[in-house]
Amino acid sequence: MPGPDAEPPRHVAIIMDGNGRWAERRGLPRAAGHVAGVEAVRRVVRAAPTHGIGTLTLYAFSSDNWRRPEPEVRMLMSLLRAYLRDECAACARSGVRLRVIGRRDRLPVALAEAIEQAETATAGGDCLELRVAIDYSARDAILRAATLLRDTPPTREQFGAALAASTHAGACAPDVDLVVRTAGEQRLSDFLLWESAYAELWFTRTLWPDFGAAHLAAAVRAFERRERRYGALPGGTQPLAESA
Ligand code: IPE
Ligand code: IPE
Ligand code: MG
Repeated sequence: MPGPDAEPPRHVAIIMDGNGRWAERRGLPRAAGHVAGVEAVRRVVRAAPTHGIGTLTLYAFSSDNWRRPEPEVRMLMSLLRAYLRDECAACARSGVRLRVIGRRDRLPVALAEAIEQAETATAGGDCLELRVAIDYSARDAILRAATLLRDTPPTREQFGAALAASTHAGACAPDVDLVVRTAGEQRLSDFLLWESAYAELWFTRTLWPDFGAAHLAAAVRAFERRERRYGALPGGTQPLAESA
């Protein structure tokens, strides 16, 4: 049972894995798994605000995913573009602010344009910040932030701001409270390494296209039962120390 003071996770980050296996188990092409995965995204975006989640970051395409066969990459790029195009009116209506984090310079022009349009159309949303990570690598983002700051030793806060700038994230999101990964894998695959320093981790064998509101609710319940200590003793409430 969650304690009476259990706080919901403010920032949830999801590594949406298992689309390919979902399709293969049905004798379908991998693309069918990615299409079904978009429906899971819609379910989770609808459910997130009901749990008090303010920021949801979804890992959609890692910088290492360029290593996949070209037809799959092309299919994913056009699926992402269609998602942003089709979803942005509904997001604007329901107060969802869309942002895409990652590199933009290697994306197809049409996708880069769809990103700009979706971000502009949903800029007024204040119910949920939905961040979609595309061509994202946490290690590359850290390296770019370090380059931006090479003349000034930064505080953690300043470094976080440079990191946000280096991934087109706009304002700095709060630290990740909860990382969810589907499909049975238990690794971070270069996702939000800096931001997840004290994140709670929750893994499920469910494949991403089968993920829905009930799974998100289970992850939030598990989070609310955890005790976060930040290096202090149980019950310690001091905030995290800032670096020197
Ligand atoms: C996640 O599903 C989607 C992306 C990484 C783009 P996968 O495509 O990795 O699915 P599996 O891991 O092969 O089942
Ligand atoms: C991580 O999934 C990237 C995304 C979910 C977009 P992968 O399927 O690419 O990760 P690995 O290769 O199994 O670590
Ligand atoms: Mg995978």
